[in-house]
Amino acid sequence: MKTTLQIEVKKTDHSRIHETDFDNLVFGKVISDHMFVADYVNGEWTDLRIEPYAPLSLNPANATLHYGQSIFEGMKAYKNDNGEILLFRADANQKRLNESAARMCIPELPEEIFMEGLLQLLDLDRNWIPNKPGYSLYIRPFIFATDDYIGVKPSEKYKFMIFTCPVGHYYSKPVAVKVEQHYTRAVEGGTGAAKAAGNYAASLYPALLAQRQGYEQLLWTDGKTHQFIEESGTMNVMFIINNTLITAPTHTGTILKGITRDSVLKIARDWGMQVEERFLSVEELEKAIQQNTLQEAFGTGTAATIAQIYKINIYGTDYVLPSKPADAFSYRVLETLDNIKYGKEEDSRGWII
Ligand code: COI
Repeated sequence: MKTTLQIEVKKTDHSRIHETDFDNLVFGKVISDHMFVADYVNGEWTDLRIEPYAPLSLNPANATLHYGQSIFEGMKAYKNDNGEILLFRADANQKRLNESAARMCIPELPEEIFMEGLLQLLDLDRNWIPNKPGYSLYIRPFIFATDDYIGVKPSEKYKFMIFTCPVGHYYSKPVAVKVEQHYTRAVEGGTGAAKAAGNYAASLYPALLAQRQGYEQLLWTDGKTHQFIEESGTMNVMFIINNTLITAPTHTGTILKGITRDSVLKIARDWGMQVEERFLSVEELEKAIQQNTLQEAFGTGTAATIAQIYKINIYGTDYVLPSKPADAFSYRVLETLDNIKYGKEEDSRGWII
């Protein structure tokens, strides 16, 4: 991309890379040396810069701290065997960030600022990108309100930032999930489709209750009847029943439009698999488990990649799912996605920058 953007770059004089244990990375704990920053002031995005990663100074009246006008993205960069950086579907993240922005009254961020800031940041911190299978550089772009004002209204000032973290797997082993019957993540007309900070805050308490009972995550159900499966908070969820891949549709505005979700559906359709984007009822899921027609259950997400689900609690009953054959769809699709992301397979869909 040709650009006329001016990005001021201030490099750190103390890289932390040699103090970092790349063999024991805890997801999201280790942050690379630099961050990209842009400020929205007087109706325009300005003062684009890359600086050493450092704490921010905020006024206690900062609007985000009180009313949560804040959105984020999650994406990943990989290194191929030639040491080149491969970025997976960054255009999709850029678009989704602006969809979230519109819902949360945050001004649109021009594509050029997102992409150029990101590419220059990755270039500068390229040594932080792991080149081991299963490892990558997680990228966290986000925008938050910076008005110092506690009246309830959209902020007039914002910050857009990107920082990155070398990461391994988010879930290191298959996960147990529990169907949520009482709490609600999203309702039609709400903010469920936006990657808004508040959605995650609201999910913490119900998720904690489930974690105390031994489940890593919830299977969120619809807010009206709690009878239809929606998503899992940190990931979208998919089921294969009678050789048909089923996942919740996104038209209700209650489901995050996952980019891994979309990638898996595209690959499945390319492979000629039967795909149904429809709401699966908890009853149908339970019947499928009981009748042995549920072949696979897994989550899809940038952080989670493809997370195997080994146990589902439905209305108090634990169902441990039978083990899968080595050529199960979720294993093959993970391998194909990894091959594309690490540059080992032709990128016929144009997903890699
Ligand atoms: C992601 O997969 O990138 C997410 O944002 C999910 C989670 C880590 C919050």
